[in-house]
Amino acid sequence: MPEAGESVFLPADWRGDAKTPFDADTAFNGFISTNVVFALEQLGLFAWFDENGRLDVPEYCRAQQLDETVFRRLLSAAESFGFLVVTDGQVTPAPAWDDLRRKLGFFTWGVGGYHDVFASAASITRGERVFGKDVLRNEAMVALGSAQADLAMMRHLLDEQVAELDFSVLADLGSGISERVCRLVKSRPGARGLGLDISASATQLAAGTVERHGLTDRVQPICADVLDVLFRGRRIEGADQVDVAMSFMFLHDLLVDPSTRMDVIPALRKAFPNAHTFLLGDTTVRPRGENENLPVFSSGFELAHALMGVPIYTREEYENLFREGGLHLRRTIPFGAPHTYLFVLEAQ
Ligand SMILES: C[S@@+](CC[C@H](N)C(=O)[O-])C[C@H]1O[C@@H](n2cnc3c(N)ncnc32)[C@H](O)[C@@H]1O
Repeated sequence: MPEAGESVFLPADWRGDAKTPFDADTAFNGFISTNVVFALEQLGLFAWFDENGRLDVPEYCRAQQLDETVFRRLLSAAESFGFLVVTDGQVTPAPAWDDLRRKLGFFTWGVGGYHDVFASAASITRGERVFGKDVLRNEAMVALGSAQADLAMMRHLLDEQVAELDFSVLADLGSGISERVCRLVKSRPGARGLGLDISASATQLAAGTVERHGLTDRVQPICADVLDVLFRGRRIEGADQVDVAMSFMFLHDLLVDPSTRMDVIPALRKAFPNAHTFLLGDTTVRPRGENENLPVFSSGFELAHALMGVPIYTREEYENLFREGGLHLRRTIPFGAPHTYLFVLEAQ
């Protein structure tokens, strides 16, 4: 397996199918079509076609209490983009549907989660509006989009790594609704888990996740700022029993402050002193100049973080951070979503 900086075999679809430069027609229709995909998801069409081969428009509108005239126009837009085939009030998925289904999480993330941020790009650039104060993202949609992407592209890759590990207690940092920690604990008899998240509402939802999985005696969601744990002396009961610490799509949030950036990994090791393995997954900056195509997600991830004032990193920068912080990189695994990696790290 590759050491830091060595080449990693990249999945072909990370190169992307969107050929640049976009002409104005493609750019404009791209904006409209992402909104249409998100609307179809919200109206239940992806779930419907997971179970059914076709949809009867009047019947579906009656059952879902939809305005049939508007729904038909929406379907017609989806048909003009090549997503659906509509004949005599019957709708079937077009061949493009399966790829949209696999990548649906990015539409939920982008349109559902970040539409206000992207729409405010000019005023943020002028300094008239500030992310976090005047402009917010929709946290629930970001969490839902992440969960959809995890299910479609990442879950099996993490499970393969976790299957190789000895552990009794897992900690997931920035755990959102604790779905992942519950799933992994459930798959290992006798294991326990902690899910730490700064968001009170995510922690509340996490309590529901734990209950749904029947794990109230084994998984504990904790509302905590991980930066308090790393740098401000907040103690987490049971942290010294954690043998595998993990975080997904969250590490960059810990690295925002340049004055503590290089201290984050040593502080993580100190906060979980008996963790033998760290599983850290995050999206990186897309390498430039390799070809003229773009994949899904990368451009959105990069622009959203720029507008939020959150730096993001290359794979090599992450690997350097781990090395400097005293973690041994066992493996770098392409982690489903474009330019996203799972770093498997050993405490030395
Ligand atoms: C992009 S989401 C990822 C959620 C989940 N790990 C996943 O992969 O689906 C980032 C999560 O980190 C949480 N978060 C952000 N800053 C945090 C902090 N300082 N301490 C703890 N959690 C934080 C957010 O509330 C959010 O749930």
